[in-house]
Parts: sequence; structure tokens; C-alpha cells
Amino acid sequence: MSPFQLTRTLPEDATDAALRADVLYGLTRTPKTLPPKWFYDARGSELFEEITELPEYYPTRAEREILLTRSAEIAEATAARTLVELGSGSSDKTRHLLDELPDLHTYVPVDVSESALKQAGQALLAERPELNVHAMIADFTRGLTLPDTPGPRLVAFLGGTIGNLLPAERAEFLASVRSLLAPGDALLLGTDLVKDESVLVAAYDDAAGVTAAFNKNVLAVVNRELGADFDPAAFAHVALWDRDKEWIEMRLRALQPLSVKVPALDLAVDFEQDEELRTEISAKFRKDGVRAELAAARLELTHWWTDTAGRFALSLSMAR
Ligand SMILES: C[S@@+](CC[C@H](N)C(=O)[O-])C[C@H]1O[C@@H](n2cnc3c(N)ncnc32)[C@H](O)[C@@H]1O
Repeated sequence: MSPFQLTRTLPEDATDAALRADVLYGLTRTPKTLPPKWFYDARGSELFEEITELPEYYPTRAEREILLTRSAEIAEATAARTLVELGSGSSDKTRHLLDELPDLHTYVPVDVSESALKQAGQALLAERPELNVHAMIADFTRGLTLPDTPGPRLVAFLGGTIGNLLPAERAEFLASVRSLLAPGDALLLGTDLVKDESVLVAAYDDAAGVTAAFNKNVLAVVNRELGADFDPAAFAHVALWDRDKEWIEMRLRALQPLSVKVPALDLAVDFEQDEELRTEISAKFRKDGVRAELAAARLELTHWWTDTAGRFALSLSMAR
């Protein structure tokens, strides 16, 4: 096996077909929505990396702290020979875990962002020429077929990305992850925790406006891919905390009445002034809720670690 392979599990036109379906569905319903996976073209992936450096965006630093202090325990508890990472992005924090897994046979980063996978793959191979990296361009919500590599298997899902799924989607997703695991395999899950509203909102509405640019990038993606004529300047970035649902919502608010054309779909979409398009939810969690959601997918929570400030949790659960 060559040290770096890139597999596309989606047919070449699947991304286009999926984007068309999501845009048609999301822009013709009330309220309007678009799924967050469409943020992540090359520019969106770059902007996300900038977000992780922002003073207000604590999740990356908090999760890195946990990985730095707990990776040896994770390695001991899992004895992983294959590490699969869903939504791996830059794989930057994952290096701390890779450092502690001497018997690792293959690392399988999975992402919709081809540019992120290629950059991460190149960087990893420069640092660790002996590591097998089997990168996969795939949508983790659509069922995965993993390469045939030795177990035990550890699936990592970091960054709090699970919070981007609605509760019913999370249940379906966790069941599909469980179906990738044999007894003794494990899931390492990063979850951002419920905390003070002002801290949460600031993390999604930074002073430098990087998250606003990230949010508006979805409009640039729809313009480029489907020939739409969204004017990003005609929308305001909105981040708000839903206290009942315990999630942050990112939205784009039309600053004036607008009519947007999406020629590839033969569609014209009207926005009233102040009408909002939901682009992301980011659910925040509590330990009991995480334990229950895992248990419903036949995963037993065995370890729960937080950063010293108690902002973010990493949990390990085992397939029995
Ligand atoms: C919030 S970022 C987290 C990146 C990295 N894991 C971290 O912790 O910094 C979410 C990542 O998941 C990827 N992603 C989002 N939706 C996805 C999907 N449905 N299937 C595969 N990857 C997805 C994005 O491209 C991005 O790299």
C-alpha cells in the first residue's frame, strides 16, 4: 500500500447533485435553510482554520488541551491500529493522538473538503513518512464504507462537529458510526458544553468578522456552483443562542427585500427585509445527554474528560 491514498466515495457528480437538492429544498421552504457542509470549499476550509485561532473561539484550544493531556490514556484504552477521523479538516489536533499511537497501521481522514484532505495528507506524510494515510472524500452523513485495515478501530469525531446535526440526524449518524465498529472498537467524540450565553455567542460572532465571512462563504459557493447572484453584502451575519434547544444558530439576515436567481435550478428566491436563512446549528451538550445519545446507539461511555476550564468535553465510548 502506498503511504498516501485519496479515495472519492462520492461519484464525481454527486456533490453537484447533492448541492442542487439541498439548495432547492432549503431555499423554497420557510424558514429558509442551507446545510453547513456547503461552507467548506477551499476558501471555507481556510476561513475555518482562521476561526480556530480567534481569541473568542475557545473550542479548538480547549479540545487541544484535552488531547495533549489524555492521548496516552486514549491510546491505552483503545490500542487502536486504525484511526478513522470524520470531518478531519486540517487534522491538526489529531497529531497529538497520532503521537501516542505507536502501533497505528492506518489513519483514515474523512472529509467533504478535498483541499483540506490534500493539505493535511501532505503535511502528515512530510512529518511521518512511515504512516499509511488513506484519505477519503466522503459525506459522513451518507453511510461510509471504510478500507479494510486492521483493528481495533478508533473513530474520532472532533471539533464539536456533531453539534451541527439536528437531534434526529445525530441519532441516525451515531447508529451509522456504530455499524462501522466491532465489539472492542471505540468512538472518541468532541462535544462543546452548555455555558454562559455571552461566551457562546462571542465564539460565533467574533470582533474581527472572520465567522461572518465564513458564514457568507456559503453564498459564494452557491453563486459559483449554481450561477446564483447572491450579493453577500446584502446579508448580515447573525449568531444567537436558543436557550430551549441549547444550540447556537448562525443565520444570514437580508438587509433589504431581495430577489435572488439560481439559474442552474431555474429558480428565483425572494427574501423579505430581515428574513433569515439558517446556515448552521451548533448544539451544546451536557454529560448525561451525551451518555444517553451514545447508549441509544449501543455505545457505552467509558471516559469523560474536560479541559481545565470545563468548557469542552472529549468522551470515549466503546462498542460492546
Ligand atoms: C467544524 S470543522 C472541524 C474540523 C476539525 N475536525 C477540527 O476539529 O478542527 C468541520 C469539518 O467537517 C467537514 N464536514 C462538514 N460536514 C461534513 C460532512 N457531511 N461529511 C464530511 N465532512 C464534513 C468540514 O469540511 C470540516 O473540515
